[in-house]
Amino acid sequence: MSDIYAILHSPACTAIWEVRADEAPLWRYWGPRLPDGVVPPAPLREERPEPSFSLHHDMPLNLFPGIGMGWFGAPALAAHRAGRDWTHAATQCRMETLAENTLRFHLVDAVAELAIAITARLDPASDVLTLSTTLTNTGVDVLDVNWLASACLPLPPDAQSVLSYTGRHNSEFVPVEDTLSRSGWRRENRRGLTSHDCFPGALVRCADGTAYGAQLAWSGNHIQSIDWIDDGRRQWLLGEGFAPGEIRLAPGDSITTPEVLATVSAHGMDGVSQAFHRAIRARIAWPGGAMSPRKVHLNTWEGFYFDHDLDALKELADAAATIGIERFVLDDGWFAGRDDDTSSLGDWWPDPVKYPEGLAPLAHHVTALGMEFGLWVEPEMVNPDSGLYRAHPDWALHVDGRPRLTARNQLVLDMSLPQLRDYLFHAIALLLRELPISYLKWDHNRDLTHAGNHAQYRAQVLGTYELMARLRAAFPSVEIESCAGGGGRIDAGIVAHSHRFWTSDCIDAVSRASIQRGFLRFMPPELMGSHVGACPAHSTGRMQGMAFRSGVALPGHFGVELDLRHLNEADRDELAVAIARYKALREQFHHGHVWQGDADDHILWQAHGEPHDLLLHITRIAPTSWRHAPHLRLPMLDPDRSYRVAPEQGEPREIHGSWLIQNGLPLPPMKGEAVLIHHLTAL
Ligand code: GLA
Repeated sequence: MSDIYAILHSPACTAIWEVRADEAPLWRYWGPRLPDGVVPPAPLREERPEPSFSLHHDMPLNLFPGIGMGWFGAPALAAHRAGRDWTHAATQCRMETLAENTLRFHLVDAVAELAIAITARLDPASDVLTLSTTLTNTGVDVLDVNWLASACLPLPPDAQSVLSYTGRHNSEFVPVEDTLSRSGWRRENRRGLTSHDCFPGALVRCADGTAYGAQLAWSGNHIQSIDWIDDGRRQWLLGEGFAPGEIRLAPGDSITTPEVLATVSAHGMDGVSQAFHRAIRARIAWPGGAMSPRKVHLNTWEGFYFDHDLDALKELADAAATIGIERFVLDDGWFAGRDDDTSSLGDWWPDPVKYPEGLAPLAHHVTALGMEFGLWVEPEMVNPDSGLYRAHPDWALHVDGRPRLTARNQLVLDMSLPQLRDYLFHAIALLLRELPISYLKWDHNRDLTHAGNHAQYRAQVLGTYELMARLRAAFPSVEIESCAGGGGRIDAGIVAHSHRFWTSDCIDAVSRASIQRGFLRFMPPELMGSHVGACPAHSTGRMQGMAFRSGVALPGHFGVELDLRHLNEADRDELAVAIARYKALREQFHHGHVWQGDADDHILWQAHGEPHDLLLHITRIAPTSWRHAPHLRLPMLDPDRSYRVAPEQGEPREIHGSWLIQNGLPLPPMKGEAVLIHHLTAL
């Protein structure tokens, strides 16, 4: 009987399906690693006597649940041909082994005339199960597809709550933890890009401490749902969200969904995040094939906004180089006529008034100082007040007869148009060829309302990916930062084309402390753009000292976003020290595992590295109300070893791992907003 089971193992996870030739594979198990050779004791239906008043043919949860043929839960597909062929159930299944850890299930629905290929890879290096689905219309009429899940995942009966993230511009990664009940849970994003208010992924906590996680590798609309099913398990569906009429497959046509990255850990949320970090790291195409140390940035935005003056920018670059900054990113305001946010998006050549000799004098000044030069662009956008819009008003997404709704005075370009992508490619390529630019900050500062007369949100995302890929292929040493009004386009899809995320336009360090925690649930720290901003913070007006601002930014991809020329000497010296500190610590911050915790009394901590050698980053975000500071319990340490605990200032101490796990690390008094770093090494 064991030959009916398809089994994938990774070091920490196991997935098991029950595979028959005439139906979709049944989900038997997805959870922490089972020993080799363990199979279910019996085929599922043999374990489940027929309940009263139920179908004689039991229909358990499978990998591609249908509709109208005995599955009463949520379907993986909603599609029809002019109202017909709407019931779906696989009638054939063939399993193909593509590689040791990769299976492809070829399903056929002979009645609805569909072919479905589901690829499942359980990566031994990351413990992440990657799933995607290809649907082909094998009938003779057009198939309207309203919904097609990338993956249908099972959750165990003790799944208790789901942690997802909402937010807005200036406030990304606001955690929302919902209790799972027999009512459904659903998050849906219709903003056309990844969005601030609905990160395309979530984590699920189980009663026994196991945690599950999934994220969709997609930068557009998306849907996630978790529903209770009749055997007490739950099904978790993730997929792209389609607008009405958006996907109409002609006979013979196919659509392939974005991938879902899913994982499970017996070690809870941190185990899930660590697996995600491994998988995301493997998706990044670094120039030269490997990540180089993440360079300290100077970004001009909050220091200068649109007010570009060549001499002032050169002075800024001089000041930046003096304190150890390694990359100078010229943000918005450099291109033709761009004096505020009302005009010029689309006209991607230097402003002749601000830069009469083009950007070369500034770029060469920067590189002569030993720094890299980076440039901000927002290719998918156009202002109605621009040369591009006046020449090609039809290139902006629009719906005939409806107003062109603006946000930040801009419209979205129709990225499905090859001639538009050519225009953008050549405009950006010209800059990259003529100037020593090694970095692009790629922005997207508004939500999409509609996506054309015929909805084409999907084409919008694919067009952007294509343009990015084309530029990366032509200029392989150029890195790209994904930004969308801060963190509106942070996802595992755009990761294949980019190398950093701008986490948030909110650089207030107290706000950042929590935004960064949400980010780190899904993405590794080296991708997390984290800057030291001005005081008071532009987004919140709150005042924070330099040590705290730089301390909070330290574990990510560190940068500075203020006018250095106006810093007082003490702050400038402190910032220089922070930059040196970052350079000394970045290798350890940006490799290995991340663990996160809190210790009550407004203390948050995160640890980076390996259990025997790690950096402990402790943040207090508000003054204490306790007479004695809490202890930090550090569950990831080795209980059988003693540790050298070295604060950055002060004498190291030796403390046993089991003491640190059970009783915790005693903390010194900390001011209301403060960061401490300890280095822990097993002896
Ligand atoms: C967005 C980005 C900022 C900055 C501005 C420029 O808001 O998130 O960092 O680049 O656009 O207009």
